[in-house]
Amino acid sequence: MKVNKRIDRDGQAATKIFDNRRLKVDYRTLIPILKKGMLVLDVGCGTGSISRDIANIIGDAGKVIGIDTTEQFIKSGKETYKATLNLELIHSDLFKFNPTQKFDLIISARTLQWLNNPKDALLKMKSLLNPKGVISILDYNHNTIEWNPEPPVSMKEFYTTFLNWRRNAGMNNGIADDLPKLMKDIGLIAIEKINSDEHYERQRSDFKSKVGIWSKVAGSKQMVSEGYLDDNLRLKAIKEYNEWVENKAISMTMKLNEVRGTLPDIKNI
Ligand SMILES: C[S@@+](CC[C@H](N)C(=O)[O-])C[C@H]1O[C@@H](n2cnc3c(N)ncnc32)[C@H](O)[C@@H]1O
Repeated sequence: MKVNKRIDRDGQAATKIFDNRRLKVDYRTLIPILKKGMLVLDVGCGTGSISRDIANIIGDAGKVIGIDTTEQFIKSGKETYKATLNLELIHSDLFKFNPTQKFDLIISARTLQWLNNPKDALLKMKSLLNPKGVISILDYNHNTIEWNPEPPVSMKEFYTTFLNWRRNAGMNNGIADDLPKLMKDIGLIAIEKINSDEHYERQRSDFKSKVGIWSKVAGSKQMVSEGYLDDNLRLKAIKEYNEWVENKAISMTMKLNEVRGTLPDIKNI
């Protein structure tokens, strides 16, 4: 019961973070390649807030399908974005998703960073792509985050443990910079890497919520229950980091790239 309550709490915090994401801020480099009438797949769409913004741009002749393995996010998004008729949210794992149609654009934001088999995920996306379609992945390099000034030692310790925990689970902390090679390895061409860093300065109205993401991440007890972290350090990191955000933080830059690729033209092979 306690565990379920914790998952609910973590899930609610994540739902709020995802609902606050907007295409023009959180996947801004995608906008120039969106065209009316496209069929778009958003893999790991969360609650579907970015998918909804895409649906509004591609218009009624187009459609966005968002898939996510977390039922709570899909349930929430179906309710929140029900007025967007050209958006369909489906509770599904990418690897079990077998639609009848192929897509003009397949996107995935901040999702491959959580997988221990990102190359298999790209191969699956490739199998769902129209011959002239584009795959676009937006993801992080967590190794190169910049805080100004340095955050408290307790948060740096938490962050180092977080990266170790991720690495041991097979996740790639620097995937943003490995995507071009991964795309090349699976046979995509015309690969483009576009810098999509998220830079937050104090004058931004969303500064505290964006920079405060790390105390929300530390809000989860998962690393404590898996023996990676002492709970007192976790609580200390949250408290000291919140104080730092409130009083000392000047800026934070999270490093991201959008990386795109397309299928080779079979006529030219
Ligand atoms: C960090 S969230 C990103 C949400 C959204 N794309 C955004 O940028 O705000 C990653 C999402 O990927 C989903 N996910 C992880 N593995 C998946 C898989 N194999 N198939 C579909 N969704 C997956 C998770 O449930 C989670 O909602």
